Amino acid sequence: MVLKVRKVDPLNPDEAIIREASEYIKRGHLVAFPTETVYGLGADTFNGEACLRIFKAKGRPPDNPLIVHIADLSELYRVAVNIPDIALRVVRRAWPGPLTLILPKSPDVPREVTGGRNTVAVRSPAHPVALALIRSSGTPIAAPSANKSGRPSPTLAEHVIEDYAGDNDIEMILLDAGPTFFGVESTIVDMTRNPPVLLRPGPFTVEELRSLFNTDIVIPEFARGGLGEADAALAPGTKYRHYAPRTRLIVVECEDYGSLIMLLRDTIIDYLNKKLKIALLITKETANELMKYSEINELPIIIIGYRENPYTIASSLFDSLRSLDKLNVDLGIARALRIGVLGWP
Ligand code: TXA
Ligand code: MG
Repeated sequence: MVLKVRKVDPLNPDEAIIREASEYIKRGHLVAFPTETVYGLGADTFNGEACLRIFKAKGRPPDNPLIVHIADLSELYRVAVNIPDIALRVVRRAWPGPLTLILPKSPDVPREVTGGRNTVAVRSPAHPVALALIRSSGTPIAAPSANKSGRPSPTLAEHVIEDYAGDNDIEMILLDAGPTFFGVESTIVDMTRNPPVLLRPGPFTVEELRSLFNTDIVIPEFARGGLGEADAALAPGTKYRHYAPRTRLIVVECEDYGSLIMLLRDTIIDYLNKKLKIALLITKETANELMKYSEINELPIIIIGYRENPYTIASSLFDSLRSLDKLNVDLGIARALRIGVLGWP
């Protein structure tokens, strides 16, 4: 592969580098770029062949549609039709930002982008590099998260390099602007239903969504646990295995924090007795509690953030999953987290 890595300032990206990347987009090649949520792997939305290269590079099933990224509201009319008033009201307040809307698709959007559906997912990313790239390319950019299918989404340019460094048949530029801001993917709401339906929880809380939409919005049961996989999921992508490290990971869940510590301790000791090499993925607060036990305080720990500040957890979650794979242990033990619609544990 020809993977060219270009460092850019996240807030004030170098024009020459953005121009070089936009030439790639115009010529039908791929550009991995930062958004406020995770890195995306982009191509020209109106070039079906270029978009197919995204699926090939990621190993993504063709029925899992892409999100179209726009820089200005006027571009919405190039990719969607019959846009309901409520959608326009919402995006005027929420964009640029981590909210993706499902809308009826314009016939100009190739079927490769939407996986053959008659709807299209659209958002405007709140990242100066993403916005500069879209504007300079003069076209909306179709992009899923830039990870290989099944891997945790990339929140650092290094994650993208990790996933694609071994490939040798892709022409691609990676715009390295350091860590993304949120670290979890955009909230997806289906506006083709009345009332609108939440398809994928993300950075917005349910209260924020209700106030933003100022109308009833359907929160399906599967979304109540926060980010996760569910059979009933309506965004096709959520039916596939994702966010997964290669190392086996056990997630310990408990409603009450005091009992959670006890349950974690017992689970860890159980597996230590089986002579397994273990690493822990826990918050700083939980680490402080578990350090009191001598059996545990020598184990490798990946701090996934601070319980009192959920944003620190969101931004390091995917990096923590990737770090686990580098520790060479048999098993990771994590505490369950609820990120998204119902708030934080
Ligand atoms: O934050 C994000 O949304 C990131 C950045 C790069 O923008 N992108 C992202 O893309 O997470 P991806 O491909 O990993 O997730 C897109 C999700 C998938 O679950 C896909 O099935 C769903 O959006 N989706 C796309 N088009 C859809 C449609 N027409 N109807 C329902 N779901 C759709
Ligand atoms: Mg993804």
